[in-house]
Amino acid sequence: MRNASADTRRDVCPNQPNIGSLPTAIVDHETIGSEDWDELILNLEATIPVYDRINRFATIGQVDKWRRMVRQRLPSEDAKLLEVGCGPGSFAEDVSGVDLVCLDPSALMLEAAKPRVNSKRQDRGDSEVEFVQGKAEELPFDDNSFDGVCSLFSFRDWYDKRAGLGEVLRVLKPGAKVVIVDPAKMNRIHGFLGWLWMRVWVGAYARIICGVKDHPWKWLTKTYITFGTTRDYVRMMEDVGFENVTAKVVFPGMATIWEGTKAES
Ligand SMILES: C[S@@+](CC[C@H](N)C(=O)[O-])C[C@H]1O[C@@H](n2cnc3c(N)ncnc32)[C@H](O)[C@@H]1O
Repeated sequence: MRNASADTRRDVCPNQPNIGSLPTAIVDHETIGSEDWDELILNLEATIPVYDRINRFATIGQVDKWRRMVRQRLPSEDAKLLEVGCGPGSFAEDVSGVDLVCLDPSALMLEAAKPRVNSKRQDRGDSEVEFVQGKAEELPFDDNSFDGVCSLFSFRDWYDKRAGLGEVLRVLKPGAKVVIVDPAKMNRIHGFLGWLWMRVWVGAYARIICGVKDHPWKWLTKTYITFGTTRDYVRMMEDVGFENVTAKVVFPGMATIWEGTKAES
């Protein structure tokens, strides 16, 4: 179904799909229905041209610091790492000194990430990244393959978070760690403030940048509404079998860094 605002949006933001009106509700904090997930991926793809710009604005510049914090928590030498949901390569481009595999379900995201990440890695003398199209819920890797797994601003979009975490645990080597970053929601009041921030502050900026009211960043708010609390995912990681699970809400209270380790044997 085409509409005037969708046509304008495609002119302003290349890759913008025709999303029409927002569809039915996302199910809950664990799952996203298939129709909604397909719609979500189209909208994420539509953000590619303005992704880093809006991300920096949305996090008042804190995103680079959070990315650094993730890098510091992962092995930095002689290691093989996996990033699940690499998007356009915003994190991967600055990972150095290790072998890196970047996975994303979107071919468009991988296309955007590949030249960006590999040219930076080439300049530094790092090995080329292996880009793999796939989903967290069905990781196309052998058991015990990675010395570390990370996922930044993607976990909230997994359509089956419990299955995805189970897969991450499977592909990690014994004793290795997962690091996940996504929005913080400590309780209902904090969640309401987060929602307000995304809807008003980020929404207004995205509307200006994309030039249309029905912009793809609306999905940021939509997925945040059904996203669980920081504690929900600590419990989920423990249920799935991770050990030493921690969650740190980082300044200024907008994001959480979760960590968990695979048992030694
Ligand atoms: C907002 S981007 C994050 C990009 C990047 N990681 C960063 O640091 O900015 C979220 C990415 O997660 C991917 N994604 C969504 N659902 C996924 C799933 N089930 N498994 C793996 N990746 C998924 C999307 O395609 C998208 O590229």
